[in-house]
Amino acid sequence: MSITGIKGMNDILPGEIETWQFLEEQARRVFNAFGFSEIRVPIVEKTELFSRSIGETTDIVEKEMYTFEDKGGTSITLRPEGTAPVMRAFIQNKLYNKDSVSKLYYLGPMFRYERPQKGRYRQFYQIGAEIIGVDDPKIDAQILAMLSHYFETLQVPDVELQINSLGCQECRPIYRKALIDFLESQIDSLCEDCVRRYQTNPLRTLDCKSTGCKNATLSAPDMLGHLCSGCKAHFDCLCEYLHSLSVPYQINPRMVRGLDYYTKTTFEMVTSTLGAQNAVAAGGRYDKLISDLGGPALPGIGFAVGLERLALMLNEQCSRLPRLELFIATIGEKASRMGLTLLTQLQRQGIRADMDYSGKSLKAQLRRADKLAAKRVLIVGEEELQKGLGQLRYMDESSQREVSLNGLEKSLAEEISLNLTP
Ligand code: HAM
Repeated sequence: MSITGIKGMNDILPGEIETWQFLEEQARRVFNAFGFSEIRVPIVEKTELFSRSIGETTDIVEKEMYTFEDKGGTSITLRPEGTAPVMRAFIQNKLYNKDSVSKLYYLGPMFRYERPQKGRYRQFYQIGAEIIGVDDPKIDAQILAMLSHYFETLQVPDVELQINSLGCQECRPIYRKALIDFLESQIDSLCEDCVRRYQTNPLRTLDCKSTGCKNATLSAPDMLGHLCSGCKAHFDCLCEYLHSLSVPYQINPRMVRGLDYYTKTTFEMVTSTLGAQNAVAAGGRYDKLISDLGGPALPGIGFAVGLERLALMLNEQCSRLPRLELFIATIGEKASRMGLTLLTQLQRQGIRADMDYSGKSLKAQLRRADKLAAKRVLIVGEEELQKGLGQLRYMDESSQREVSLNGLEKSLAEEISLNLTP
């Protein structure tokens, strides 16, 4: 029996990868314009990094981490997200000594042992961005302007930016207490999971999918109504800045996040096209995380985009398979050899070209050219080769012209680079 891949971990195949490359290129272009530099961190970290930052009582740490002992007996974990590793690297490499503001972005696979379904996988890719060192809400507005602009450049249909505030060390405990009191009054209507965790992680109840919890929490107190004056001023300023930067948004006072490190601003890009997995990107401010991990007391804010979800949304829109500029179809061994030389010369110049290598019939070669969506086909037979001639067929225009093989490499390269067709 052949060996299959692991459940929830996908291959990204030619035909799909082009969308991914497009998403990545656009992200690099946009993030670069906003002053970000790439950082690459390992895929595995010490387990403690995640339990301390994401939170012991979160779903991720409680049940979704790929954790195992390495041969030296150290507990290590495949990263379930990118913020904690990036902060670990920031602290360890003392990046705060290089600049008072750090703007970092990263891209790569993350791992969570979740139940796979459309848009939810066990290995998934994120593109994330983090700004460290500024607590002014101007930076919250900038990062949201960047995220929003990224989605605009991709022309993603049907997304909405939702924002909320989760308060700070001062106001969150007061809100938490109010919420626990409220949940106690509704305890009979809550699901088993929420009854178990409403004391340790009451906010998760607001996000619970069970109908009982949904109904029971309809009139639950919300964090926005409990913000202290500092957090309220921060949130109001953010709304003002977003307005002046023309970034569309909705306030969602019931938004909770599945990671414990957030303070003040949180946000999600949501869509109605992906069913239950409706967040295509998410993030927020984490003003305590760096000091909690043993670094200096610096604030931070960031987000991560889920690439599978974004690719799903774009794939439904269009296919981005790159077209072949030239297919060389030959008849006979001599022509085939000439074809190989011409092909390699063109490829060395960066032109996407291909040929048949195994002596198929002309008809079969033309079928393959069609399959590869070739823009042009050069046909060279034995007789023509003797005369130094070939037929260049333009597939879109169904036109054809005779060309001299002498110097063809140069003229073709020129025509292709100028995107010219006669
Ligand atoms: P998160 O909300 O856990 O936040 O994940 C961010 C995004 O990753 C989600 O909105 C979703 O698009 C995608 N995602 C999460 N889990 C899966 C999964 N199992 N399968 C497919 N896609 C998934 C974070 O990870 C934070 N580190 C974001 C952040 C950065 N906050 C501040 N800076």
